[in-house]
Amino acid sequence: VRAGNCPDRDNWITKRMYPNIREGCTLGADACGVALNGQHKGQLVILDPSIAWGDSEGAPSGSLEILGTPRDGSFADSVVVPEQNVYLKPAHLTPQQAAALPLAGVTAYRALVTKGKAGKGSRVLVTGIGGGVAVCAAQFALALGCEVYVTSSSQDKLKGALGFGCKGGVLYTQDQWGKALLKQTASKPFDVVVDGSGGEGLGECLRVLGGGGRLVTYGSTAGPTAAAIGLPQLFLKQAELLGTAMGSPRDFAAMLALVNDKRIVPIVDSVFALKDFPRALDKMRVSSQLGKIVLDHQVASL
Ligand SMILES: NC(=O)c1ccc[n+]([C@@H]2O[C@H](COP(=O)([O-])OP(=O)(O)OC[C@H]3O[C@@H](n4cnc5c(N)ncnc54)[C@H](OP(=O)(O)O)[C@@H]3O)[C@@H](O)[C@H]2O)c1
Repeated sequence: VRAGNCPDRDNWITKRMYPNIREGCTLGADACGVALNGQHKGQLVILDPSIAWGDSEGAPSGSLEILGTPRDGSFADSVVVPEQNVYLKPAHLTPQQAAALPLAGVTAYRALVTKGKAGKGSRVLVTGIGGGVAVCAAQFALALGCEVYVTSSSQDKLKGALGFGCKGGVLYTQDQWGKALLKQTASKPFDVVVDGSGGEGLGECLRVLGGGGRLVTYGSTAGPTAAAIGLPQLFLKQAELLGTAMGSPRDFAAMLALVNDKRIVPIVDSVFALKDFPRALDKMRVSSQLGKIVLDHQVASL
């Protein structure tokens, strides 16, 4: 393994707030490294972290395992996965950039495209742009030709999002942020909202959703329950509320095709040496990042 990514999942696992934790398990859901055998032997590859998704596109089989718990993950010299989970590294990416892609990328792609059906011209809201999945979703949406808005707790991150092509954004820390957002769009509502936090914010997500729109939820950073949802808002808008997690092999391959085709470069916020994993986690816990935090396995300390 050359580089592994440090996703939020490892943070929850180390806090023991994740199901099916196996004691002694090696963490790490993402990796870029050299294949030691198989059809890509000797080449730089990345790994699809969903092992044994199964045959249905609708949902994974009961045997799904995600790299890094309970199955040993990538924060190691080497990692063992089935051959079908091994894909060539996109040629335009460095190992560090490529390591930032798999788990966040496949989750974002399935949320935005497979479930959200976003495409050219869609107006898309991505909440909590400081999140790893969120930043991938925003980048993919821009590459697809969507009009992208974001929310954040940080003015600097809103500025950062404008810097990489988003059209606008508001602080979700203000009351009724949806109203402020609709001012920016001249009251035009959203076709797709991609949300990873839930909590009270979900009510605002629904407020800004347009007729026939899709609200896709992939996480619950703000808490395991959501705001009370005004059902008339949901049914009168003919809106869809969709859940998603990880992605199928087809999602992963389609995500990689988009990254290769549009030469998307994942935004890496910072890089730590593997042995500095605790420092990387500390950074993640205060949410100061915009983009992914990557662990580099080849440097002693950075
Ligand atoms: N379903 C899946 O397959 C899957 C995969 C990966 C992650 N997840 C889940 O998705 C969530 C995000 O994970 P991640 O690794 O992408 O994120 P992350 O890197 O841990 O970032 C969390 C971000 O969430 C945002 N946030 C926090 N509280 C918020 C709130 N009340 N409203 C809106 N945004 C808020 C913050 O954005 P700002 O800094 O901009 O304020 C923060 O930077 C987690 O709950 C995680 O467990 C699910």
